[in-house]
Amino acid sequence: MTTADGIATGSTLTHLECTWCGETTSADELHGVCTACGKVLYARYDLGAAGKGFSRDRLAGREASLWRYREVLPVRWAENIVSLGEGYTPLLRTDRLGARMGLRHLLVKDEGQNPTGTFKARGMAAAVSRAKELGATAFGAPSAGNAGGALAAYAARAGLPAGVVMPVDAPLINQVEAAVAGTQVWLVAGLISDAGRIVKANAAARGWFDLSTLKEPYRVEGKKTLGYELAEQLGWELPEVVIYPTGGGTGLVGMWKAFAEMEALGWIGGRRPRMVVAQAAGCAPIVRAYEEGVELARPWEDPHTEASGLRVPGAIGDYLMLRAVRESGGTCVAVSDEEMAEATRELAAAEGLYVCPEGAATLAALHHLVDAGWVGADERVVLFNTGAGQKYPEFVRFDLPVVAATVGELP
Ligand SMILES: Cc1ncc(COP(=O)(O)O)c(C=O)c1O
Repeated sequence: MTTADGIATGSTLTHLECTWCGETTSADELHGVCTACGKVLYARYDLGAAGKGFSRDRLAGREASLWRYREVLPVRWAENIVSLGEGYTPLLRTDRLGARMGLRHLLVKDEGQNPTGTFKARGMAAAVSRAKELGATAFGAPSAGNAGGALAAYAARAGLPAGVVMPVDAPLINQVEAAVAGTQVWLVAGLISDAGRIVKANAAARGWFDLSTLKEPYRVEGKKTLGYELAEQLGWELPEVVIYPTGGGTGLVGMWKAFAEMEALGWIGGRRPRMVVAQAAGCAPIVRAYEEGVELARPWEDPHTEASGLRVPGAIGDYLMLRAVRESGGTCVAVSDEEMAEATRELAAAEGLYVCPEGAATLAALHHLVDAGWVGADERVVLFNTGAGQKYPEFVRFDLPVVAATVGELP
């Protein structure tokens, strides 16, 4: 629809709702967490109205980006969309690797093909767009690395300033990609949780809208499109098993939200994939909480793993992740950094897919599950490779032979 104000996206966003206490609030002003209980706010849509004009068939011919699902995204006016072409990444069959593992349907959703090389682009595209629409003029965020790089890119694309606080051991490429886009970057001798406290304390003085993971309602809206794409790319069926490398958990809980929305739209039935959380053995708060049978996860003490995106000791969305895993009949698996390195080599050599350590964690977790007989040979298993291996050049090393610059037989 076009009006004097511009081109409407057709978004059916109605309000925000707290996922913990149920409190509702207006969606048309900037919000962080629930003011009543401090937990995560979700965007809600009029899916009945959406369903009338927004059928699966209407998607055909739409742009190959996450904005193809604009009726169930929060941005109301097309001119506010800040995009670098994020989303609609390939869902690749990996038959050679699958056959070796005794699986007939192993697939990888390759999020390394997003702008900035990771799935963080999805969340930042949606959140920066919507915050800009609601009047934000600057952004701040703590980041393990990739989210900071993505925020920097989308803030630059929006023409707005941003500040990012990262742990001092965040990958160099993340420090550079954020700084090169004009974002102010601070390195903290601590963890992402320390970075989060610093951003919160400085946000008002710097005029930042705080884009911390799940502490505003719209990054998860961008990430939920993973779930829409999965269904669309599988002909409106969901796989039997989804394995997701989990830090803050936004993609996992986002997909879970998308499945419920698609069922309300009448696009899929009630069957759900078994959702599997893959974490690093050196930082596995959700695995521990799952095994202990509790609803909230205790922060992990002394977290360590080279998979920087998994170095998240405590997550505000812990209860949402644990609910998705339990309601789906899924499970949680911790894997070592050595297993991730081995899985990186395995996927690259078997299928030409150079995945990030976090993505490799999903294959390492699958090995555990196959060994335990948890996955059937005919089940469709989707691994989420959340980023490009090229962003982690230090993770898998090779001692390569150096030869003299003379023409001769190679050793
Ligand atoms: C490459 C990569 N994979 C996975 C994650 C974890 O993502 P989430 O916060 O959605 O659990 C991150 C987070 O930084 C990441 O950068």
